[in-house]
Amino acid sequence: MTILVTGGAGYIGSHTNVELLNAGHEVVVVDNFCNSSAESVRRVQKITGKSVKLYEGDLRDGALLNKIFDENKIDSVIHFAGLKAVGESCAKPIEYYDNNLAGTLVLLDAMRAHGVKKIVFSSSATVYGTPEKLPLDENCTVGGTTNPYGTSKYFQEIMLRDVYASDNEWTVVLLRYFNPVGAHESGLIGEDPKGIPNNLTPYIAKVAIGELKEVGVFGDDYDTPDGTGVRDYIHVVDLAKGHVAAIEKTNKSGVYTYNLGTGIGYSVLDVIHAFEKACGHKLPYSVKPRRAGDIAACYADASKAKNELGWSATLGIDEMCASLWKWQTQNPKGYNA
Ligand code: UD1
Repeated sequence: MTILVTGGAGYIGSHTNVELLNAGHEVVVVDNFCNSSAESVRRVQKITGKSVKLYEGDLRDGALLNKIFDENKIDSVIHFAGLKAVGESCAKPIEYYDNNLAGTLVLLDAMRAHGVKKIVFSSSATVYGTPEKLPLDENCTVGGTTNPYGTSKYFQEIMLRDVYASDNEWTVVLLRYFNPVGAHESGLIGEDPKGIPNNLTPYIAKVAIGELKEVGVFGDDYDTPDGTGVRDYIHVVDLAKGHVAAIEKTNKSGVYTYNLGTGIGYSVLDVIHAFEKACGHKLPYSVKPRRAGDIAACYADASKAKNELGWSATLGIDEMCASLWKWQTQNPKGYNA
């Protein structure tokens, strides 16, 4: 199949491209590089020995999208492109809704105009808001999101469901990611956050390499085994393979929703200690107040993806930390070294 990957130069997109190419698919990428680099696409080609067709531009540029669909016989789309920083989304809601919602609408319009009716969407466990129960399954209530980033994911799910409702020939796959971490085993591609990382594992990696002083543990008085926040961390390579399964296994039209997680929750302290094993030295940390908007625990019931897609995560916390450490040490300045 020929697959258009929007945001394909980004963290999850680049790892997905590797798995798509390894599975024998053709990949066309569109990316505006607002939080990514063309270098990741070059490295994907190096890892796989296969070529990727790259278009630089924004999804809100309808002329560009129509040109991409005119020039390539696209079978389906994997839609990653979007802004994703929770804190920034609270400061810039207009930019977030414009980028994430308007971009998706222009994409859907171009797909419809070219008769391309299969889309896999990069959603998030954030759509569940505060979990009504644990583990979270796909029937749990969605909505109740607490920031524009999360709300934009929720709205996009609704938009995609409405598109299917209007035309039952569409295949819509909503993949709700838990906490993607780690990097490709080659150490050539990985997460390259700009500035000080917001998320836990990139922050730990920068402490481990000596760039940041200590890890701040945001709260140790949650109702969890050690009092720190518990999350379902999933290796980005497992997550990438989940997209290949979603593209290949959903052959009938409809709307499909899958959690992509491991089903296992690790605390902040568990992750710090796992990373100490990977990097070979102790990591300084201190307990700070809770971060606004955080929940105590969040982990998936991932059985639906296993039963219907034949996909489940195979890599554990040690592989996540070891691969992140390899990426960090081989690319201390990210792609722009
Ligand atoms: C965050 C987003 C979520 C998004 C996901 C993408 C928030 C509130 N949620 O999830 O919407 O889909 O990233 O991966 O930002 N922690 C520390 N110290 C740190 C950083 C984090 O103790 O320096 C803790 C947090 O309190 C949390 C855990 O580590 O318990 C994971 O945090 P993080 O990596 O930011 O992910 P989430 O908050 O789960």
